[in-house]
Amino acid sequence: MLITGKGGVGRSVVTAALAKIAAKRGRRVLVTEIGDESDDYSPLARHFARARLPKQPEPMEPNIEGAVLLARTGQEMFLKSVLRSGTIARAALSSDALRRLLSAGPSFREMGVFFQLLTYLREKRGAGSAYETILVDMPATGHALSLTGLPELLLRLVPKGPIADSLREGQGYLNDPKLAAAWVVTLPETLPVSECLELIEGLTKTKMPVGGVLVNRVPADPFTEAERAALLPLIEQNAWLGAEQFQKPLLSRREIARLRANTALPIFTTPELPHEGLVDELVRVLDVAKPMPLPVGGA
Ligand SMILES: Nc1ncnc2c1ncn2[C@@H]1O[C@H](COP(=O)(O)OP(=O)(O)O)[C@@H](O)[C@H]1O
Ligand SMILES: [Mg+2]
Repeated sequence: MLITGKGGVGRSVVTAALAKIAAKRGRRVLVTEIGDESDDYSPLARHFARARLPKQPEPMEPNIEGAVLLARTGQEMFLKSVLRSGTIARAALSSDALRRLLSAGPSFREMGVFFQLLTYLREKRGAGSAYETILVDMPATGHALSLTGLPELLLRLVPKGPIADSLREGQGYLNDPKLAAAWVVTLPETLPVSECLELIEGLTKTKMPVGGVLVNRVPADPFTEAERAALLPLIEQNAWLGAEQFQKPLLSRREIARLRANTALPIFTTPELPHEGLVDELVRVLDVAKPMPLPVGGA
């Protein structure tokens, strides 16, 4: 399950909440995010009381393991599988020239991340598999699409050989709607909704199945229709403090309606919540009678 969306919409909190829900339902979960070697802090890891996710999967909570997807880890795993030797792979990767090449080409970075993810997907599909649900906290829009679009792009350049084989294998997992889905997190505001619709289109173009949209931070409307009607002329005539807050629920309803008008995908909403205990509260809100369908084997 790939959790995608524009920066700051709540991908990481939602990923953490979904991991906790799946774990509560008894599934063995691997929670991952795409990181960078230089990251010393991860907002996702914080929801599991850690500063960072470990480089190799480690238990974080009952039923939940976590690992960061790093270009270099994946490149090493790939070289190891091709060269059939970890020692030679590590020696190759310690060559400055090769490292420069691998970090300069954007596709090499993505290939690394892709291969690491593929390794976990394989483990998941294998007999006595370690994981039943794998969640990926994806980077913001553009980077997410370069990852989901990687197989098509590279297969055109390199149609044969070990890289092509892993790309095809990865496509087999990621592009099968029975096995995988991307979910788009957004906010009920104009630009985020527009970007969400573009992202759905982009994901579809890269053949990534989209499970649905989660509209996060939907504001509660404290007013009745009659109260709104009475307040509206006053608000319009005066630059009241709070005029924007007054309009927010209306804007939110309008944007959710626009989303519904432009996509047939399932749409879920989650409210604006207090900062304190946010993830636990999201778990409560999302794990209700009509839960978000966790892909691969259902609830
Ligand atoms: N439903 C919500 N109610 C209130 N605050 C939220 C909600 N969802 C997310 N936030 C806040 O929004 C900010 C961004 O969330 P985060 O998950 O880090 O976004 P992203 O991973 O998409 O960049 C965080 O400060 C988080 O606490
Ligand atoms: Mg994040």
